[in-house]
Amino acid sequence: MSKQQTAFVCQDCGSVQRKWLGRCPDCGAWNALVEERLAPKPSRAAKASPQPQPITEIAPSDIQRLSTGIEELDAVLGGGIVPASAILVGGDPGVGKSTLLLQTAANIARQGAKVLYATGEESAAQIQMRAERIGALAEDLHVLAETEAEAIAAAAEAMRPKLVIVDSIQTMRVEELASSPGSVAQVRECAARFCALAKRSDSAVVLVGHVTKEGAIAGPRVVEHLVDAVLYFEGERGYAHRILRAVKNRFGPAGEVGVFEMTDQGLVGVREASQLFLAERAAGEPGSVVYAAIEGTRPLLVELQALVAPTVYATPRRATVGLDANRAAMIAAVLERRLGAPLAGMDLYLNAVGGLRLLEPAADLPAALAMLSAALDVPLPEDTCAFGELGLAGELRPVSRPEARVREAIRMGFRRIVLPRGNL
Ligand code: TYD
Ligand code: MG
Repeated sequence: MSKQQTAFVCQDCGSVQRKWLGRCPDCGAWNALVEERLAPKPSRAAKASPQPQPITEIAPSDIQRLSTGIEELDAVLGGGIVPASAILVGGDPGVGKSTLLLQTAANIARQGAKVLYATGEESAAQIQMRAERIGALAEDLHVLAETEAEAIAAAAEAMRPKLVIVDSIQTMRVEELASSPGSVAQVRECAARFCALAKRSDSAVVLVGHVTKEGAIAGPRVVEHLVDAVLYFEGERGYAHRILRAVKNRFGPAGEVGVFEMTDQGLVGVREASQLFLAERAAGEPGSVVYAAIEGTRPLLVELQALVAPTVYATPRRATVGLDANRAAMIAAVLERRLGAPLAGMDLYLNAVGGLRLLEPAADLPAALAMLSAALDVPLPEDTCAFGELGLAGELRPVSRPEARVREAIRMGFRRIVLPRGNL
């Protein structure tokens, strides 16, 4: 019998404490520690000690990536799925994770490779119905409705598929742990087992993880360091388009984005993304400015909108959607102080249209123009596009890849491009 069989695990950050505490000493979350039973550790001495290899003697592996059959997804992954790799696909519930992975599964199965789609969320019949609707029926695509991680691993080892999809990691459990599915301990243990399965069986494994804004269920964050690639879906339910962003990728560029549109045939990749984001632009309205962004490696034009209104609060509000609120407050202060913009006593709202999260400092200048345009109630000419970083002294600073931004702006018909002198 080992001495300690339970521990208190923070459901936010995964840190392990010996006793219950009101506040997690690692991440500061209140009331987040939950008692979990620990599985006894296998004793090390029983196993033979592993043999390190000289790096020059390791046989190079000729990696044949699996194409997902979806160009945008392949691009985000850096050219397809690497065999034996583990990928986490995260996002809000309902954003389209299961849909995209079912399409991927069918595409790969149609190339003659076996795929196992393990689901703990839906029944096999529900998956079949969805597959039928989006045209994802394929002979080599096998569905297993199961929540026991070891049972799925056993099925995968018997079947030897090229790809295993686990939907979702929060519904999976291992018997040895008493805690409920979705707790940090279960999520972490199940993820570790599926990653181990990938490495020993040569099947690529995709783990689906739900992210909730409140972090009520153990977030996929505790899984991020276990896997080779982490893709997050962004997008608001109200919009048809979705952004898939690689936040980590051991086999390709991190930060790459793919743009999709949700249709009744599932998700469809959108190459002409700027067109999509500018489709319903409020051109000619005060407060609307087009920003030439770079997301991943691709240039993307997005509309920024600002609204300025007299405040009813003691401190005016500075609220943003899709942009950094602190930066917006800083830009407003610079405009007030350096240009005497009439923003004092005014609430300020700033929105990146389309549900994108734009965190580059290059958004400063278009955000400033949108605020000025809104504050003065003067629209900008419709063919105006901007990018550039703003300093506290009111100076404009050059940003990365100006040529790509300008080329995209010109391609989309913009004739007035406002940019820092340093980028000319
Ligand atoms: P889903 O893939 O189930 O989301 P997740 O797995 O991330 O929770 O997507 C569900 C949403 O997508 C649901 O609101 C319906 C919509 N949808 C379509 O619009 N078209 C389709 O072809 C499918 C399959 C789903
Ligand atoms: Mg789902």
